Amino acid sequence: MSLDIPHKPYRIKVIEPVAIITSDERKERIKEAGYNVFNLRAQDIYVDLLTDSGTGAMSQQQWASLMCGDESYAGSRSFAHFATAVHDIFGFRHLLPTHQGRAAENILFSAMVSANDVIPNNMHFDTTRANILANGGRPVDLVIEEAYEPEKVVPFKGNMDTNKLLSLINEVGRARIPLIMITVTNNTGGGQPVSLSNLREVSRIAHEYRIPFFIDACRFAENAFFIREREEGYQHASPIEIAREMFSLADGMTMSAKKDGLANIGGILAMNDAEILAATRDRLILMEGFVTYGGLAGRDLEAIAVGLYEVLDLDYLRDRVGQVSYLGAGLKRNGIPIVEPTGGHAIYIDIHKLLPNFPQREFPGLSFVVELYIQSGVRAVEIGSVMFAHKGEDGKEIFPKLELVRLAIPRRMYTRTHLDAVIEGATAVASNKTRLSGYRIAEGEGPLRHFIARFEPIMHG
Ligand code: F0G
Repeated sequence: MSLDIPHKPYRIKVIEPVAIITSDERKERIKEAGYNVFNLRAQDIYVDLLTDSGTGAMSQQQWASLMCGDESYAGSRSFAHFATAVHDIFGFRHLLPTHQGRAAENILFSAMVSANDVIPNNMHFDTTRANILANGGRPVDLVIEEAYEPEKVVPFKGNMDTNKLLSLINEVGRARIPLIMITVTNNTGGGQPVSLSNLREVSRIAHEYRIPFFIDACRFAENAFFIREREEGYQHASPIEIAREMFSLADGMTMSAKKDGLANIGGILAMNDAEILAATRDRLILMEGFVTYGGLAGRDLEAIAVGLYEVLDLDYLRDRVGQVSYLGAGLKRNGIPIVEPTGGHAIYIDIHKLLPNFPQREFPGLSFVVELYIQSGVRAVEIGSVMFAHKGEDGKEIFPKLELVRLAIPRRMYTRTHLDAVIEGATAVASNKTRLSGYRIAEGEGPLRHFIARFEPIMHG
């Protein structure tokens, strides 16, 4: 085995059969789905790279832990296991389980955000953005400018620009900023990591202005791995030590355990401040469930308690990030432009670069995604104009700076054979790119249109 290929630290014990339908059948299926891959039946997909959220394979230890689930309504043993793991890794004084990340976000924002408040982040993910808007706030992205240059290779492209943060605080005043967030890794900007020194600087500014600092911790272990690889002084630190240092800088976190919790469901809201706990606890009971289960079964809490440690295993992380870079290298080799350097959980194809003359209002990313499905049965997701274009105050459409297609790799799920099929499929689409048609929205406008809208092809000429 060549030394640059990380060894696979597991083998397959349980299999899930996958049937493959023909490309003619896929053409029919995607038409029936209104050209929105969210409307497809999963059984009609060969390699599903829609998301890395809740889609990973659990370990034998996790499956065994499910049998130990204590389903008591209050004070379950499973909650104690979960709480012990969360305290041990993240260190916050208080924690609440939630059924997934967006529930943690909504509970936090409904407690902390008032009308006209401004919430900075390196880049908000779509549910974070939507939850802030739903609570009357304004989400603001303050990531470093390099994040908007897909080909630029910088080690911590997820960092927040702290000058932008200081300007924002000066402009709107600290009273209108109820919290500062940072997302690790930065999903919207390519799964790019945030350095410890950036976290330290943001933490310093937040504390200077007495603004609570929260981390969106969905992919904290992948972020810790990149710090170990790229930040001076951490080459001998273990991922768990790095994670502890990251979270010691923050006042709280939201997390989807469906990512680096290695679980199929679950979320966490944690904080040090007793007042924030008091404000969020009642909402949790109203919206999710009692404080020791928060919308989860006892067995789910067990699976997360085990997963949070497995995800910090160095061999696991090498294999995980290695799969992502393998896919990225294969696409690049075949001339497909991607966001670089490759991130922690997904490859992002740079659609602007691939299709420079394709108008954003006709959804070039969606067009690529539809054709990739038809060609190869691979489900990707558009992270571009369908997801983020919106009308400005003057009624004019504002298009996002980045037009991307994301190929998110589920954890411990696919083999190189699957990844090779993705490379082959994407290459076939790229080599026939002049044939791609534009799309318009037929129904389902609104801030969550990427999930629900139906589209129709635009016939030119
Ligand atoms: N924050 C980030 C950075 C995310 O990537 C996600 C989910 C959430 C919050 C919300 O968590 O799904 O458990 O409610 N991202 C998934 C994705 C859906 O495909 O990237 P959730």
